[in-house]
Amino acid sequence: MNQPLPAQALGAPAAVKHPGLLAWVSDMAALCKPDRIHWCDGSDAEYQALCDQMVAAGTLRKLNAAKRPNSYLAWSDPSDVARVEDRTFICSQKQEDAGPTNNWEDPATMRATLQPLFDGCMKGRTMYVVPFSMGPLGSPIAHVGVELSDSPYVAVNMKLMTRMGSAVYDVLGTDGDFVPCVHTVGAPLQAGQADVPWPCNPTTKYIVHYPETREIWSYGSGYGGNALLGKKCFALRIASTMGRDQGWLAEHMLILGVTNPEGKKYHVAAAFPSACGKTNFAMLIPPQGFEGWQVTTIGDDIAWIKPDAQGRLRAINPEAGYFGVAPGTNTITNPNCMRSLERDVIFTNVALTDDGDVWWEGMGEAPAHAIDWQGNDWTPAIAAEKGTKAAHPNARFTVAASNNPALDSAWDDPAGVAIDAFIFGGRRSTTVPLVTEARDWTEGVYMAATMGSETTAAAFGAQGVVRRDPFAMLPFAGYNMSDYFGHWLDLGKRLQQTGATLPRIFTTNWFRKGDDGKFVWPGFGENMRVLKWMIERIEGRASGQEHALGVTPSYADLHWQGLDFSAEQFAKVTSFDAAQWRDELALHQELFDKLAQRLPAELVQTKDALAQRLAA
Ligand code: OXD
Ligand code: MN
Repeated sequence: MNQPLPAQALGAPAAVKHPGLLAWVSDMAALCKPDRIHWCDGSDAEYQALCDQMVAAGTLRKLNAAKRPNSYLAWSDPSDVARVEDRTFICSQKQEDAGPTNNWEDPATMRATLQPLFDGCMKGRTMYVVPFSMGPLGSPIAHVGVELSDSPYVAVNMKLMTRMGSAVYDVLGTDGDFVPCVHTVGAPLQAGQADVPWPCNPTTKYIVHYPETREIWSYGSGYGGNALLGKKCFALRIASTMGRDQGWLAEHMLILGVTNPEGKKYHVAAAFPSACGKTNFAMLIPPQGFEGWQVTTIGDDIAWIKPDAQGRLRAINPEAGYFGVAPGTNTITNPNCMRSLERDVIFTNVALTDDGDVWWEGMGEAPAHAIDWQGNDWTPAIAAEKGTKAAHPNARFTVAASNNPALDSAWDDPAGVAIDAFIFGGRRSTTVPLVTEARDWTEGVYMAATMGSETTAAAFGAQGVVRRDPFAMLPFAGYNMSDYFGHWLDLGKRLQQTGATLPRIFTTNWFRKGDDGKFVWPGFGENMRVLKWMIERIEGRASGQEHALGVTPSYADLHWQGLDFSAEQFAKVTSFDAAQWRDELALHQELFDKLAQRLPAELVQTKDALAQRLAA
């Protein structure tokens, strides 16, 4: 029998005045049986002390301060390198509320499974109590969570990724709502047992969400979205169910500001599947030929979007930092990101160079020698011979948003920013044109719902396979995907009835390949050319061609100054083939068959109309 600990035994700071929070921490401590409890205050001194402690334990290496001040490198256990989608569960009371795209388990059954795993799971470890606000403290769009974790790596990452610390207790007061998040690496220590640098449970992992009671329980992994529970678990899976119930949206979207040479500013929210260049797009630097244009970052991964009193959709970035994919990031693909990473960074699973700095594939010239993410010698010759990567393909950096030189001045505004356009972008080497504008909200929802994408290394499993990834939310929707489509349609209808102007909806595909297997569109900063067209569509200044799929620019509609890109190349990335699209529609139908229960009729009608246009 696990007896709750009395409040004084918990060592809670005086700022904690919330009996519900104290009772929960007491219950969880009684269950998990940590040796100690540490209530995080979020201070710099605490961050430093925890980093020092992890350096001593071998979890972190301090990087050369002359090259990368105040920065650290962690190497995970090789079995713990990515989100584990097949171990992620949505435990709603009814299976149909989780829907066919989620792993479902009955909540009572799951609780019975987890109970013995969590019993004593923190023995020999410290339980960190991590209070955090997703979004500016006290913002009407923000919500609070508290994560209990036995990982100091989680505690320091949460400081960079969220507004974490004592001020959250003031926001909670005596009875404020919070999402309880329990996390353990699932590696209790027996008396006298030595710890390892990256404790985790190599065989048992559970990432569990109870949407009705808004709880998160995570067992066995210390990595990324499995362990930093504010991110995918709370800000997407639980928050999407809160949004469904309360009339708002929690989306897998970056948010950027774009200011034109006349000084008029627009805000765009864009959904791309994991590791498809969201951070690059969010930090885009306008290329040559775009003098006077400015792009600023509000968020790089997640948007919480609520209608204001006028029915305008206003968005915040619930996070306060970036947990981005390192490989492929360099001074050409993302100069602002490279500048963000100059100091105060936690790197995970990149290579260590001989001068105490970091390196990853695609960063630039390879070092003559490095230690790879698994702690082995690495040289270009070894890589050529054995194919060994210096950095894991899903290696990450964690850095506070305040390091970003292109941070938007409104990124921390509690009122959020008004969204003018949504972009949905898949990764497709064929079939899908560079950019298409939806003719109306329903068509936009259809485009987003039927997005397909080639899979990447952000999740464990096969790569490069096309899977339907509706709204880039396939692994992140906390409820039935058909209901989620219905929620988008209903919200649009409701806002239109109030007379509000809805954001425009576009789809993009930066990833079309030519016959030589190479990307045709240059991407990165050059995506500004497409962004400018979108802004000018909103302003009513740019023309477009209407066709079966929607509205697309012709060659003359884009601004080409500063880029040598021919009309023939443009045709390669914008063309579409009716026969190929009939095959594509068969895949849309496959998705709709899977989602048939509760699928909104409007989407089926939109598909039928598209099929007719393609046949004409
Ligand atoms: C991420 C992801 O880490 O989408 O942002 O996997
Ligand atoms: Mn993401």
